[in-house]
Order: sequence, then C-alpha cells, then structure tokens
Amino acid sequence: METIIADTYEEMSRIAADMIERQLMRKPSSVLGLATGSTPVGLYRELVRRHKEQGLDFSKVITFNLDEYLDLRPSHPQSYRYFMNENLFNHINVDPKNIHVPYGHAGDVEEFCEWYEQEIKRAGGIDIQVLGIGADGHIAFNEPGSSLGSRTRLKTLTKQTIEDNARFFDKAEEVPRFAITMGVGTILEAREILLLANSRKKADIIAEALEGPITAQVSASALQMHRHVTVIVDAEGGSKLKRADYYKWIFQEKKRLIPRLIGKVT
Ligand code: GLP
Repeated sequence: METIIADTYEEMSRIAADMIERQLMRKPSSVLGLATGSTPVGLYRELVRRHKEQGLDFSKVITFNLDEYLDLRPSHPQSYRYFMNENLFNHINVDPKNIHVPYGHAGDVEEFCEWYEQEIKRAGGIDIQVLGIGADGHIAFNEPGSSLGSRTRLKTLTKQTIEDNARFFDKAEEVPRFAITMGVGTILEAREILLLANSRKKADIIAEALEGPITAQVSASALQMHRHVTVIVDAEGGSKLKRADYYKWIFQEKKRLIPRLIGKVT
C-alpha cells in the first residue's frame, strides 16, 4: 500500500489524475472503475480539463461504476448515473456504449448483478478502480458486515449512510434505503486501486482502514490485502494516521529521486 498525504484537496485530485493519465497512456483502452460522492469531483474536474486542454483521450476507455441507488432512474438528479454524466461523461469523449453504471430500476436485481459481474469479466477486468470511503468505512455501498468476498448485489444502507447522503436530497426520507453495489470481492479483483479521502470527517476512518485490523466491519480495511493500492488523502484526511511521517518521507523521497515511482508498489 502506498499512502500519499497531499497538502490540499486540489493536490490530491491532481496526483490521482496523473495516475489515471499514466494508465491511459499505457493502455488507451483501459477499463476504469469509477466512484461517485463529493471526493472524486476534483479528480473528474481535472480529467475534464486535461481532455479539453491537452487532448487526454477517452475514446477507447470502458467504464464501470461501483454502485447505484435502487429504484432511481438515470434521469433522477440524485442518481449516480446522473452524477457521472454531469461531472464527467458529458464533458469527455467516452463512447456512451462503453459506460456501465448499475441500473437502479433493473427488474430482476439478482440477474442484473450477475450480468454486471460478467460484463466486467468480458471487458477484461478493471485496470484501475477509483474509490472514496464512507464515514462508516464502506467502499462503494459495502456497509459494515459486508463479506470481504462479496460480489455485486443489493445492499441495505445504514442509518449513518442515509443521513450522510441526505444532504443531496430535499428530505432524508427521500434517500433510497437500498442500493446495487459491486462487492468487496469484485473491487479487490481490480488490477490497481486508488482510494481518495479528504477532510477531517474522514480522518478517523482512514486511520482505522489503513492501520487497523482487516475486518468486515470496515470494508475499506480489505484493501490491505490488495497488491497494488494507492491511497491519496489531503492533510486533514491523513491527520490521524500514526505513520504519517513515514508516508510523507516516502513521498518526498520518490518526488526527489524517482517521480515515476509515485503510485507504484515499492
Ligand atoms: C457514497 C458512495 C461511496 C462514496 C461515499 C463517500 O456512500 N456509495 O462510493 O465513497 O458515498 O462520499 P463522499 O465522497 O461524498 O464523502
């Protein structure tokens, strides 16, 4: 695991964009796993800028989103499909037929989840998966207690997640109680994982996930078992990490000596 403590949200987003850009240079037809939430908005803004100003090409890219609320249609302003269109897809040259976001209104949810897993396999698997983290340690919507081997399925949201996400809805009662989400096991199959977290609100759970025990109670802690994870936090998000000085030292040494090794396992 590499943990990078950036000074600011903007720096966090830029380093993440560098990693995605490097991946697209290496493989223009990369399969990107994408996340929603306020955390990756800066990353998406930076990717859009690079597309518009520097021609960063997404024409061959295939995308898979982590999750979607049950029963929300893509046209619903709080659906994750709508969020992705607004923040990324509408502003880059990704081919719409290469975009995959779980359908919240799928008739047969189990069948849909099975199909989604197969689509990821047919695309050759996810090259790089972007993740945020919920205040209760969830990745995607893998709430506490989710099996670390879980696959794409329907999940019941915790009260805390409903409250956290109520800020995007007019009323807390409007927040869906269920979501379709990739499982922890699905996420762990990505070749590379990029976890982002900013703000003081995330400091405790980031420390628990990275430096605490691996447990199904904190689904992000399962990332400790993955062979290629880069965690990028801002100064506040990283403020509770016990080994912060060591992570900062590694980052400085890499920047000074071999910048191309940032985000590589060393
Ligand atoms: C939701 C999403 C997660 C996301 C989390 C954090 O629950 N399902 O994928 O990581 O929110 O959101 P934010 O980035 O807004 O803190």
